[in-house]
Amino acid sequence: MNGSPFGGGSVGDFVVIDCDTHAVFARVMEVRLPMTERHDLDPSMGQILSPHPMAKLHLLGALDLAKNSVVGGISKHPVLGAQVYGASAETVGRFAKAMASQGKLPGDQVSLAIGHVKDASSTPVRLSIKGLFSRHCAILGATGGGKSTTIATILHSCREQLPRCKILLIDATGEFAGAANGQTSCFLGSGNAPEGEKRVRIPSDNLRESDYFAILNPSPTQRIKLSEAIRSLRLVKLLEDETYATEKEALKDYLSPRGTVKKRDLERLNFFKIISNKTFAQNLESPDSKFDFTKLADQVLHECVKEAGEKWVEDQNSQGWCQPLVSKIRIFNHSDSWKPIFGDPTPPSLFQEIQTFLASEEQMLRINLSQLSFDVGLREIAVNLIGRWLGDFIRDFNLTKKAPVVVFLDEAHNFLNQHLGDDDLRYKLDAFEKLAKEGRKYWLSLVLSTQQPRDIPAGILSQMGTLIVHRLINEADRRVVEMACGQIDAAAARFVPNLAPGEAAIIGIDFPIPLTIQVDLPPDHAKPSSASPDYGKWI
Ligand SMILES: Nc1ncnc2c1ncn2[C@@H]1O[C@H](COP(=O)(O)OP(=O)(O)OP(=O)(O)O)[C@@H](O)[C@H]1O
Ligand SMILES: [Mg+2]
Repeated sequence: MNGSPFGGGSVGDFVVIDCDTHAVFARVMEVRLPMTERHDLDPSMGQILSPHPMAKLHLLGALDLAKNSVVGGISKHPVLGAQVYGASAETVGRFAKAMASQGKLPGDQVSLAIGHVKDASSTPVRLSIKGLFSRHCAILGATGGGKSTTIATILHSCREQLPRCKILLIDATGEFAGAANGQTSCFLGSGNAPEGEKRVRIPSDNLRESDYFAILNPSPTQRIKLSEAIRSLRLVKLLEDETYATEKEALKDYLSPRGTVKKRDLERLNFFKIISNKTFAQNLESPDSKFDFTKLADQVLHECVKEAGEKWVEDQNSQGWCQPLVSKIRIFNHSDSWKPIFGDPTPPSLFQEIQTFLASEEQMLRINLSQLSFDVGLREIAVNLIGRWLGDFIRDFNLTKKAPVVVFLDEAHNFLNQHLGDDDLRYKLDAFEKLAKEGRKYWLSLVLSTQQPRDIPAGILSQMGTLIVHRLINEADRRVVEMACGQIDAAAARFVPNLAPGEAAIIGIDFPIPLTIQVDLPPDHAKPSSASPDYGKWI
């Protein structure tokens, strides 16, 4: 029972056509009989005559027999009468191996075992690390297609074979606790951190003005007051610095003991004169300039003033408009859901943890977001903040080029191409899009998985060097994949809806010919905890 099924005649099977100097690799797309012979195969009609079945083949690529290299596309077409052979699993595996290793320098040969040729578990398919990570990798597929399992398999292979590569796993569902066994897990969420995981927070200092606009969604008039309030609170923070002792003294009438800036019944021009000092003004306007969010609601109320001659006076109209905004800010201040950003300041900063991890000898850091609330925008903002921080940080990290970093993001459709705000003003959360565009040169690669390729910005998909495509049913999703990667053609696309769990078409730099493979399962402890229920047990 050591054999494996030998195809060559059924739809979906691979075949090889003898083309003299080349062996052309093809896939059976359709098998039919000539119209005149169709009745002959009906058993009720008696004797079966010798039929002339016809198969439609899709030519995928060719093996140059002299150079032993695989070329995508067909440089030499088969002649009439050319011999066609069924491709055994071993032959398919040989093509895969030739593709993965051709044209590579010895150092590029490091490869990860991720699966095997279907029906031939002894024929492994390896992906070169360079092909997989140098231009990012996307894992696509409908629910249950096997994306999380593929991530776990790649993670496991990386841990085994790339001990010096840094792995950052953004675990949105908590499925990968097992895969991160023995490594640090940071818990960003409400509720109690699971045993062994370190509670962290994202300090609100990391939010920019545009993030506050995205979260608070102010009306156009509220937006002006919110901007002014943020500027005033930045001023308070800046004046804590001793370099600005003179300015602090000059502004003392404006500073309330509660850490806010008063304006009502005070001189306007004098205030502006002091704060428009060049370096001071630059710091105030800088998007990274910090302020105390807990004071924001009060400060918005302080901004509800209007100009009257040289002074500011109370403005009841703007107080009315801003009241809903003030209530919203107070809710955020006390919300349990937003605690990981605006709450208890004692847990360490997630970014500090990532920074320590990147400088350490540790191999992997998992960020567990499973208990982060689905409150409007929170998860999207948090993941976008992580992406933005990484983007800013890697430019410096690059200076030392300590080790390449691979960031895994499962369920990326929840975080990419997201907008907050309304039609009036929309805020694009595009940190990962920027990482996809810039990360490579700073040695940062992304491995993303998504159920909905159609929701992934074209800018991100086109940056992917390797696509691992599991079962995809939706027509629009399949079209996006076809468009994102010139190499996927009818042959691969047509079989994508019928792939079994764990089966995937591999398309990419390493694979000029799109092959379908069966992804290997990782060891039990590293499997994602995402199995479907066994309904048999619930009868
Ligand atoms: N490589 C594989 N070999 C065998 N079975 C697999 C493989 N990958 C996945 N499966 C089966 O499919 C189930 C679902 O897999 P997985 O959770 O990885 O899918 P998914 O694409 O991540 O789904 P979702 O989008 O809902 O998260 C697994 O529990 C397992 O039973
Ligand atoms: Mg999954």
